[in-house]
Amino acid sequence: MEGITYLTQKEAQSLDEELMGPLGFSVDQLMELAGLSVASAAATEYPTSTHPRVLVVAGPGNNGGDGLVAARHLHHFGYQVTICYPKPTSKPLYDGLVTQCRSLGIPFMSAEELAAAPLSSKYDVVLDAMFGFSFQGAPRPPFDAIIEMLKPGAHPPPVVAVDIPSGWNVEAGDESGGGLRPDMLVSLTAPKLCAKQFAGSHHYLGGRFVPPQIKEKYKLNLPPYLGVSQCVRIGGSGRSPAAGPANVADMRLSYGSGGQSLDESDMAEAGPMQEFDAWFKLAASSGIQEPNAMSLATATVDGRPSVRYVLLKGYDERGFVWYTNYDSTKGKHLEENSVAGLAFWWEPLQRQVRVEGVVEKVPDEESDAYFYSRPRGHQIGALVSMQSTPLHRGRAELEERAARLERQYADESVPVPRPPHWGGFILRPLSVEFWQGRPSRLHDRLRYVRSSVDSNEWRLERLAP
Ligand SMILES: Cc1cc2nc3c(=O)[nH]c(=O)nc-3n(C[C@H](O)[C@H](O)[C@H](O)COP(=O)(O)O)c2cc1C
Repeated sequence: MEGITYLTQKEAQSLDEELMGPLGFSVDQLMELAGLSVASAAATEYPTSTHPRVLVVAGPGNNGGDGLVAARHLHHFGYQVTICYPKPTSKPLYDGLVTQCRSLGIPFMSAEELAAAPLSSKYDVVLDAMFGFSFQGAPRPPFDAIIEMLKPGAHPPPVVAVDIPSGWNVEAGDESGGGLRPDMLVSLTAPKLCAKQFAGSHHYLGGRFVPPQIKEKYKLNLPPYLGVSQCVRIGGSGRSPAAGPANVADMRLSYGSGGQSLDESDMAEAGPMQEFDAWFKLAASSGIQEPNAMSLATATVDGRPSVRYVLLKGYDERGFVWYTNYDSTKGKHLEENSVAGLAFWWEPLQRQVRVEGVVEKVPDEESDAYFYSRPRGHQIGALVSMQSTPLHRGRAELEERAARLERQYADESVPVPRPPHWGGFILRPLSVEFWQGRPSRLHDRLRYVRSSVDSNEWRLERLAP
């Protein structure tokens, strides 16, 4: 990002004091959010599928506290976490974090135990949460020895530095030139001056709590966080081996470690639409941005398939509704072959729903009702786009048509007519499969089937995964 702000040590300290003074934050809150950001950022670049074993090295101060919080979150994200916390701070906040981690069964290791074997033989990624922006001088034992184990010459696994690579000067960076070379840096609140020297693969920003007063006062130029994300990428070469396409084959999650299972006796007796209602509501409350995004498969009459995403805009006992252009590719397919399929994938829940059935247009009144519930700009958009036809004159053709129609419908008292080629489809299901990810690929699959779209008699069957 261009022109991003870097803080001096003094600025970072006074910003922290302001957050914890006039702005009403407690240290626990800031630590909790910082640790969550670090865990989210690390999990984004080093997924459990490729980097399941994480070592967290926590120092005696706030940086170490951030590390302990991150360790706890990483455990809940599904990592096998080990903590090295050689100089525990005896304060209720830190005691509590240690108790929380121990209660999850996270093992604690001494610095000596760590030194017994090369780190890369036991861990896939190391979180360096030893020293933060208050650190000055030279690291003392046992941290000096741990830092040695994390230097490039010791061939450690990728190192994720929390805010400051330990041993670096907060402003001048790696003054000796022989210090840590983390693969990832997660800057908290705002990057400190030393981050300018960071030459690793991933630079992230975390700590999504900065109020506007602070942004103005410190003239912080920082990128926005997207959606519900706790971190945002702000730089790095992106060259980490974890990110490369070569590792696609190794990317696999073990599902169902949380113990979710599907039992025939738990499935709605009234049929799949009632079951879908429960699943959809859970997905909608799970932080998924567009739980109603579904892939829709259609085919020509001679069996040439095509798949694309559309948005579910309603469901009831009849089936699943979406809106589109009837003259589009999918519209033409459905005109000649009304058999289609849908699939939802709700990743945080490790759940899939698959539907097959027969598609019809929804009644005109229903399309009208939805069309007029949309913002006026979207209504005009439906008139503008001759979906799926080539734009021979490029994007300009689309924009000219949009401008012309916006002029034509500038008077907001004149309703935009719903074009006859735009409306809803409903897929009336013949089968609906509920899929729950389980460990070792022994997933649960329960499918409702019926013999015709007018039948109310659903049969429930279990399928091999
Ligand atoms: C998440 C997502 C949701 C979409 N929702 C719709 C939709 O509800 N209706 C629609 O016509 N196109 C939607 N699109 C665009 C379609 O995927 C597709 O590009 C377009 O409908 C043309 O498809 P076709 O040429 O196969 O007919 C969506 C795309 C995405 C990525």
